[in-house]
Amino acid sequence: MILKDRVAIVTGAGSGIGRAGALIMAREGAHVIVADIDLANAEETVGQIAEAGGNAESLVVDVMDDQALEAGVAKIAARHGRIDILHNHAGAQVAGNLEEVAVSGFDASWKLNVRAHFMASRFVMPIMKKAGKGVILNTSSSSGVLYDREMIAYTTSKHAVIAMTRQMAGDYARFGIRVNALCPGWVDTPFNAPFIMQMGGRSAIEDYIAEKVPLGRWADVSEIAEPILFLVSDRSSYMTGQILVVDGGETVV
Ligand SMILES: NC(=O)c1ccc[n+]([C@@H]2O[C@H](COP(=O)([O-])OP(=O)(O)OC[C@H]3O[C@@H](n4cnc5c(N)ncnc54)[C@H](O)[C@@H]3O)[C@@H](O)[C@H]2O)c1
Repeated sequence: MILKDRVAIVTGAGSGIGRAGALIMAREGAHVIVADIDLANAEETVGQIAEAGGNAESLVVDVMDDQALEAGVAKIAARHGRIDILHNHAGAQVAGNLEEVAVSGFDASWKLNVRAHFMASRFVMPIMKKAGKGVILNTSSSSGVLYDREMIAYTTSKHAVIAMTRQMAGDYARFGIRVNALCPGWVDTPFNAPFIMQMGGRSAIEDYIAEKVPLGRWADVSEIAEPILFLVSDRSSYMTGQILVVDGGETVV
């Protein structure tokens, strides 16, 4: 078990990629804090981890609520005396080009996809600094490294996550803290509903993926969980400030 006894917070772990990451971390011995705004989803993840013989607890929190997030992190630190891993994963897509996207949608993208990663890292950092070690993983997206069709709010936020990751990595490496970014491509989770709607339905998205992704298909969440495990474990111990793109080759073309 490569994460034995480590304490890991995963935001957005109540569904999709976040859940798959939480499950694999627990499988490797971590105690996982399933942080999500949705209690039922968080409890489902905790239940799946327990069923597989792992350890987890839920933390119901809106990561955009600074006070609640700070209190949640403090509660975890007090209870466990450590936070070894923070995976900032919760995020959302807001569709639309420059003229169409609601300004409120642009602001919401920033708040959830960038600012919440910033705040959670800020709350966790003193604990990791004191320990002289820690790992932060920020979920960006393949949209953080390429242009995404009529998704200005989303791509802007995901590019910013990469800049923030590199900056944090440079500033905190001397404290033994590693910070990397994960850029998934098309992963079949509820997350893509706004884009599927924008595209005009399921068959349109299937055609789009078949054409745009060299591997010609969606990723399964398990194919993103393995790279997550790599990035949050000592397997990547000399890696910081890097961007791992897991996209079936989409960014090659
Ligand atoms: N699925 C993909 O194709 C894909 C591709 C690239 C990047 N991503 C990134 O992965 C992340 C989520 O994707 P997913 O596929 O796991 O999504 P998902 O929709 O399956 O899960 C998102 C989870 O985040 C939670 N959440 C939403 N807002 C929250 C908030 N304010 N506070 C706390 N929790 C909140 C939801 O309740 C949900 O459980 C996003 O950052 C997204 O940009 C996804």
